[in-house]
Amino acid sequence: MTGEHKILLSERELPTAWYNIIPDLDRPPAPPRHPATGKPLSPEDLAVLFPMALIQQEASPERFIPIPEPVLDVYRIWRPTPLVRAYRLEQALGTPAHIYYKNESVSPAGSHKPNTAVPQAYYNKIEGTKRLVTETGAGQWGSALSMACNFFGLECKVFMVKVSYQQKPYRRSLMQTWGATVVPSPSPETAAGRAILEKDPNSPGSLGIAISEAVEVAASDPATHYSLGSVLNHVLLHQTIIGEEALKQFALVGEYPDVVIGCVGGGSNFAGLAFPFMRGRLQEGRPTRFIAVEPKACPSLTRGIYAYDFGDTVGLTPLVKMHTLGHNFVPSGIHAGGLRYHGMAPLVSQLVVSGHIEPVAYGQVEVFEAAVLFARTEGIIPAPETAHAVRAAVDEALRAKEEGKPRVIVFNFSGHGHFDMAAYDSYFSGTLVNHEHPQEDIMRALEDLPKVPAEA
Ligand SMILES: Cc1ncc(COP(=O)(O)O)c(C=O)c1O
Repeated sequence: MTGEHKILLSERELPTAWYNIIPDLDRPPAPPRHPATGKPLSPEDLAVLFPMALIQQEASPERFIPIPEPVLDVYRIWRPTPLVRAYRLEQALGTPAHIYYKNESVSPAGSHKPNTAVPQAYYNKIEGTKRLVTETGAGQWGSALSMACNFFGLECKVFMVKVSYQQKPYRRSLMQTWGATVVPSPSPETAAGRAILEKDPNSPGSLGIAISEAVEVAASDPATHYSLGSVLNHVLLHQTIIGEEALKQFALVGEYPDVVIGCVGGGSNFAGLAFPFMRGRLQEGRPTRFIAVEPKACPSLTRGIYAYDFGDTVGLTPLVKMHTLGHNFVPSGIHAGGLRYHGMAPLVSQLVVSGHIEPVAYGQVEVFEAAVLFARTEGIIPAPETAHAVRAAVDEALRAKEEGKPRVIVFNFSGHGHFDMAAYDSYFSGTLVNHEHPQEDIMRALEDLPKVPAEA
């Protein structure tokens, strides 16, 4: 084994700006539209949910946006994160590929999610918000926002998808330790939750339903804003700190990735690593490949359609143009709770449509097989979401071996799985099964897509 395992940056080398990909796209993004009228949204329409700074970032024409000093100060608790060469995994696979992973699991909450939770809490605080309300699937986003609100003196309320609330009680404890209030969703606290419970009292919940509940609470209280952990442009923007660091780290080792991989729920960790490298492809025509990995049980990019849809189940959020399985889609209770979302970040969707990103889907059994291989070679236990990226990286490395062609692969290690050991238990006991979502269910959910006026 030669060369460095961990490519580290010093605190002084922490990037001081986020990268906004919008100015580098082949065409401008489709505008978000009002959920009731279908007309393009104005910044004022969003002001009930978000602070102005984030609304401006959503459609900013600036390529680089400076990171405020108080945000950098919190980032320094765990950033810069290591870029790690996975020598032991390479050896186990017998591949000529160089495999790197960007270890975002070193944050206090255990994932990449604090990269956006911290600036969202900060901008809300300086604009006078008292409380943030949000939803969480796996509990990673809720933990991150609870921690960030705690740093900036904001209250935090989290609607947690019921199946995850039951599967991951210690994620709830984590949120409570940072001072948040956690409610299983669907809940009787909101009209949205009550409507779902009336139809199905045993509803396992979904991210779409939990978003409806959180948005309803935020819209009915002027001191409360809503916070979203993925999908939106400003969330992807904040996550680019990952790729900006990785660019510097690759420069230090004198390599550059041929393939960039990330798992996709709403698209934020994937975009965070990928977009700074995508800049090289869009501006200079570099031939880097980008692979977005999703579960077969929730295949928005590989089997959904590209259309305007609501971000939530009830239809309270703006309409955005994205790959969707329909806002009524309730995926099966796979363990990768953070990947159970019907939609996708519009910026990721647009780059899939224009051929810059290749989507792939895996079943959870093959995903856990790769996760265990990773844990036994590299030592770190991947979150079930992250394990999707591990699977794709392993397959890419095996392809390099078959073809006898070396390549440099990097994937985003978006989070650790310390709170997901029940999922590993069910893998080891053989009770983990693959879910492939039935085509009829997808077709049914797509029938309810909102009608949007023809685009100008
Ligand atoms: C560890 C981890 N990775 C990935 C995701 C997926 O989200 P996104 O696609 O926004 O990165 C989540 C979501 O909760 C997560 O917790």
